[in-house]
Amino acid sequence: MAKYIIEGSKRLIGEISVGGAKNSVLPILAATVINRSSSIIFNAPKIKDLYIMIKILKSIGCKVKFSNNIVYIDSSTIDKVEIPEDLVREMRSSIILLGAMLSSCGETIISYPGGCEIGPRPIDLHLSSLKAMGAEINESHGFIHCKSKRLTGADIQLDYPSVGATENIILAAVKAKGTTIIRNAAREPEIIDLQNYLKKAGCKIYGAGTSVIRIDGVDSLKEVEHTIIPDRIVAGTYMIASAITGGELVLKNIEVDHIQSIIAKIKETGCNIYNNCTALKIVGPKRLEPIESIQTLPYPGFPTDIQAQTMALLTLARGTSVITETVFENRFKHVSELIRMGANIKIVGKVSIIKGVSELTGAKVTAKDLRGGASLVLAGLAASGTTIVDGIEHIERGYEELDINLNRLGASIKRQF
Ligand code: EPZ
Repeated sequence: MAKYIIEGSKRLIGEISVGGAKNSVLPILAATVINRSSSIIFNAPKIKDLYIMIKILKSIGCKVKFSNNIVYIDSSTIDKVEIPEDLVREMRSSIILLGAMLSSCGETIISYPGGCEIGPRPIDLHLSSLKAMGAEINESHGFIHCKSKRLTGADIQLDYPSVGATENIILAAVKAKGTTIIRNAAREPEIIDLQNYLKKAGCKIYGAGTSVIRIDGVDSLKEVEHTIIPDRIVAGTYMIASAITGGELVLKNIEVDHIQSIIAKIKETGCNIYNNCTALKIVGPKRLEPIESIQTLPYPGFPTDIQAQTMALLTLARGTSVITETVFENRFKHVSELIRMGANIKIVGKVSIIKGVSELTGAKVTAKDLRGGASLVLAGLAASGTTIVDGIEHIERGYEELDINLNRLGASIKRQF
């Protein structure tokens, strides 16, 4: 496994331009199979998950080119409905192709994505919603076979505002017969970005960003050019890199409106934050203040995807902080690794109690998931001595050139195969 070797205790200073959002480009690339025409997607991040999604699109017959953060897709040449099992196992979010393939081809076969490092990741809400729209779904031998000549619009109440389920229903509904209403829909900015892509393709979709989304089915979609929104989780991660090193960073090409909950909590640690709508300056304090309580919640609450990074920050606060992880069942795998670096953290069920220490010391640690891995890099930036982070393939699924960017800001990170 590749690793990062980090020499810690270096203040980060400088400017970073944040790339396109992983959790927006993946559903939008899935959506490109529907118009059976061309799509040009700008501001696409060079991350592992994007390359996997490109491999999937090529495997069903799409022509795809990716250069200079632009993806060119021609989905007029699709000639397969089966999504390769190995690629689904590698990236569970490929389940988002269920709805898109039903709209595009009326059929798909995809392996059960299964759980991942952060929890069992069920897809019951996805499947029950597609069934409500008339999809025939057979699940056997670990595969899901979905078929439907033409889906019918339905009024769907989601038990939980699931991001993936909301996206799958939208992609199934855009060419369904009649109207689909999604109630208790996810309100994440990535849903709004998906709606904007689909509107450009001629879809009739309204309400993304609110809890009720309406889609009136159309017969066909046209070609699209679209620019992906900035990655709010990458932005939050770089903010914490500045905070944890007592640095001074300027983030550019961000959507400040998408990170209000992160800004509010990081300000509680004593950081000074100055911003306009698309840029932000963050100055870390000499000593971090603790945060009495953080609860991860669906958007616009505090994002679960920034929980691990915030925990790394709070290990060095002057007091005790509490983080409750309410979204995923098993998203504390970074805790044991942070403790190896001298952190004082106790877990009681979904609650983590972080008692600040005066310093972290470099150690050999292992990334077990994407955001937990990022939290170990952040801890390594602040720790005294050398930190070796193993398993960085998890991190490179969602961060574009993280080591290169951090080194440009004054860090000392070597990437070793
Ligand atoms: C998306 O995952 C993101 N991934 C995740 O980001 C993010 O953490 C998550 O939304 C929450 O914001 C992508 O967009 C590719 P959910 P998703 O369905 O869609 C339960 C990262 O680090 N649930 O909103 O899988 C589920 O078990 C990744 O970038 C059901 O019970 O998230 C979980 O507890 C990690 N049944 C909760 O809902 C279902 O059918 C939230 O899951 C679906 C979900």
